[in-house]
Amino acid sequence: MMKIEITSMKKSIILLLLMSCFSCSSPSSNIDNNVDSNSHAQTQASLYQEIGGKPALDNIIDNLINIIGQDDVVFAHFAQSNVTRFKDELTIFLCHLADGPCQYQGDSMEDIHQGMYITKNEFNHFVELFIEAMDASGISYPIQNQLLARLAPLRRTIIKM
Ligand code: HEM
Repeated sequence: MMKIEITSMKKSIILLLLMSCFSCSSPSSNIDNNVDSNSHAQTQASLYQEIGGKPALDNIIDNLINIIGQDDVVFAHFAQSNVTRFKDELTIFLCHLADGPCQYQGDSMEDIHQGMYITKNEFNHFVELFIEAMDASGISYPIQNQLLARLAPLRRTIIKM
């Protein structure tokens, strides 16, 4: 019973994020006294730190790639892709997006996905797979939602059909 309530609540939040392409400035609300050695007098944890840093992000992306590999809806898009490159670029992109110590200097999401003719359904499904990957990595729902909120504005640049 409890699991059903949590699942449906999570689905509502995800739907809300997917339906609205608002520009989010991603609040990081938790105060963390563990100062990142690369930052100057930082008192607030970045989303990257809250996710669990590089080990957690690597784990999420490994899970995502495994899940995509067994998925009937989006796998066809990835069938000819260079998985190593996808993994490396996605890692840097998400690290940057979560205010981690990375600078994504690749092409824009619009340029990369142009010509793939990604549908709304495929995009929404990809987000569900991403959530599965975060679940499997043990990322808490509040942290998942913060990362999803930063991905939501990309929706309109990636969907072309
Ligand atoms: C918020 C959602 C998404 C993000 C943040 C994202 C991000 C990225 C990044 C960073 C890359 C690597 C680019 C490079 O190689 O330089 C990439 C590649 C790719 N993306 Fe996405 N993507 C998203 C959604 C999707 C969706 C929904 C699909 C298809 C259903 C998709 C299909 C692909 C494919 C096939 C490639 C590999 C292109 C190649 O062969 O090199 N992406 N994406």
